[in-house]
Amino acid sequence: MRSSLATLAATATAALGRQPDWIAAAPGRVNLIGEHIDYCDGFVMPFAIDRYVVMAAAKNGTSMSRWSSEGQPDACIPHDETQKIGEPAWANYLRGVIEGFRSLGHDIPGIDVAVVSSVPRGAGLSSSAALECAVATLLESVLGIELSKRDKALICQKAEHEFAGVPCGIMDQFASTFGEADRLVMIDCRNQEVQLVPFENPDLTVIIANTRVHHQLSDGAYAERRRHTEQALACLAQSSWREVTLDQVMEKWQQLGEPVNRRARHVVTEIERTQRAAELLAAREYEAFGALMDASHASLRDDFEVSCAELDVMVDIAQSLRGRGVLGARMTGGGFGGSTVTLCETAKAEEVMAILRERYQAATGIEPEIFSSRPSRGAHAFAKGD
Ligand code: GLA
Repeated sequence: MRSSLATLAATATAALGRQPDWIAAAPGRVNLIGEHIDYCDGFVMPFAIDRYVVMAAAKNGTSMSRWSSEGQPDACIPHDETQKIGEPAWANYLRGVIEGFRSLGHDIPGIDVAVVSSVPRGAGLSSSAALECAVATLLESVLGIELSKRDKALICQKAEHEFAGVPCGIMDQFASTFGEADRLVMIDCRNQEVQLVPFENPDLTVIIANTRVHHQLSDGAYAERRRHTEQALACLAQSSWREVTLDQVMEKWQQLGEPVNRRARHVVTEIERTQRAAELLAAREYEAFGALMDASHASLRDDFEVSCAELDVMVDIAQSLRGRGVLGARMTGGGFGGSTVTLCETAKAEEVMAILRERYQAATGIEPEIFSSRPSRGAHAFAKGD
């Protein structure tokens, strides 16, 4: 579903059934490069996509919130008690963010909220971060406060850790809150510093291809990868991955053992690739940038082992179109299904998308969801009447 923010806001308002007091929106994200290193002090290069979770809300005169979202059971959340994980499961993201505001001492009044979304779910495009960041942005409006983007993103990350059981890094929530039109959100995850990097060349198009295969991140594989990186760092006797060189990893290869040694090699090489990618982008060296995306995919597939057959099929098709418009392609996000990201010449983008669709479906029997996206505005509230 590709709907404008205005359409999504109108749909949310209609679902609420009365004039909203507040409307808030937060986008999903795609990551160009820097995968599985946001929890390793690395650099990441996501941008907010033009797919949003939008919420329309109105006071309800109680001390609880009542939430409705298409295709999900309604949820009712009392605000005057410590939040706990419960049913329906989708509401745990809401509870987590509400708890974040409660723990800051805020007294949240009762609200009715209608939620709509154009962020594909389970597609590696951070629909959960978009949901969290939309709740946080809505609560800011309801309470008449404004948190720093960083603090807001950190509340949302904590919600994901404690209420969804995913020990994620900071990339998704930072991309959703800091995103801006025509800007990449380059994050130095060691000091949590954000640099908004121009990405506005009309000759470049970013294609997102959702394989429609979905494996839960909370199934333990994500947490296991994170544990491997922690084990590796301890074995390397370093306090930050930024101090680790590839030589050091290779010297300790046996001692690190399988598969931790390969996990370590991914982290070190991906940090290097992402730093280099930022330089290449500034120098407008897009072919070389694309080659790093290809290398990132190989590392995620072989060393970090977070790809899957369907992601590999999609990436292989895209990479086979190098010279026919494609500059580079890789899986994006946590992996184990989800989406790929392809950097493409705009003049060839339509043709490339058609080929991806056709060949992926022929190879897997699954109809993919393929669309292009541009860096878009991050989480924000709408003024009444907007
Ligand atoms: C998920 C997590 C992020 C990040 C990516 C992999 O999206 O939420 O923090 O670790 O996986 O790069």
